[in-house]
Amino acid sequence: MIARSPVILVFDSGLGGLTVFTEIVKARPDARFVYVADDAAFPYGAWPEAELVERITALIGRLIAAHAPDCVVIACNTASTLALPALRARHTLPFVGTVPAVKTAAERSASRIFSVLATPGTVARDYTRSLIGIFASDCDVTLVGSTRLAALAESHMRGETVADDAILAEIAPCFVEREARRTDVITLSCTHYPLLLPRLQALAPWPVTWIDPAPAIARRVGHLLGQAPSGRPDGEAVIGFTAGAPNTALAPMLEAFGFERLLADPLEAAE
Ligand code: DGL
Repeated sequence: MIARSPVILVFDSGLGGLTVFTEIVKARPDARFVYVADDAAFPYGAWPEAELVERITALIGRLIAAHAPDCVVIACNTASTLALPALRARHTLPFVGTVPAVKTAAERSASRIFSVLATPGTVARDYTRSLIGIFASDCDVTLVGSTRLAALAESHMRGETVADDAILAEIAPCFVEREARRTDVITLSCTHYPLLLPRLQALAPWPVTWIDPAPAIARRVGHLLGQAPSGRPDGEAVIGFTAGAPNTALAPMLEAFGFERLLADPLEAAE
């Protein structure tokens, strides 16, 4: 545990990591948060593995040098399932990743049929397949690699209209019926997807349990850094985008999430 308020770097390819950020703020409201969206490379889900791991490790190295965080949260399944071993090998500070909640899904599924909804990158990873082998070998698991859902979530956050049909086409393969049994749990294994949760619930062909891992990730950060000492004032949250300042239409949404400032260049130290 550290005596001063910690600096927490939260990283994603876009706005999806905000679902994780919101939960971590509840655990450590006194922290200084630096949220970085690598939107210059969005979507990560379509990147070849070798190039993506190189990009992420180089970028995180520069962000650590610029912001000196006490902890880095990789709030992206596509990045975590690929780059965590390389990041941990290079840096001594703690990394918290976001990986498909296969264990929780297996624990909660009564029908023993569940789906992992993720990016094409995450469903293709050895890491994801090994989680299924370890925790869900007695379940019928459907891996659904959505090519469009993360981008639809970004559009939704930008206030654009996202058609029901477009969302339904992405989630429909998650709903599987086998004689008398059917899918009863779906893991939201891309941090963008919980941004659309009310739409997903409304469009689901039948009710299922949707698993958003963000609260569990926040608990992990709380264990690592300790809880905020009582009476300590709230910290600060700043956000930066690798593609440069976003459209000003995004400003009210970012303010609503609690960001006080936009970093002109997230690779430079923030003052
Ligand atoms: N938010 C990211 C994740 O959790 C992925 C979105 C993308 O494809 O960049 O996997």
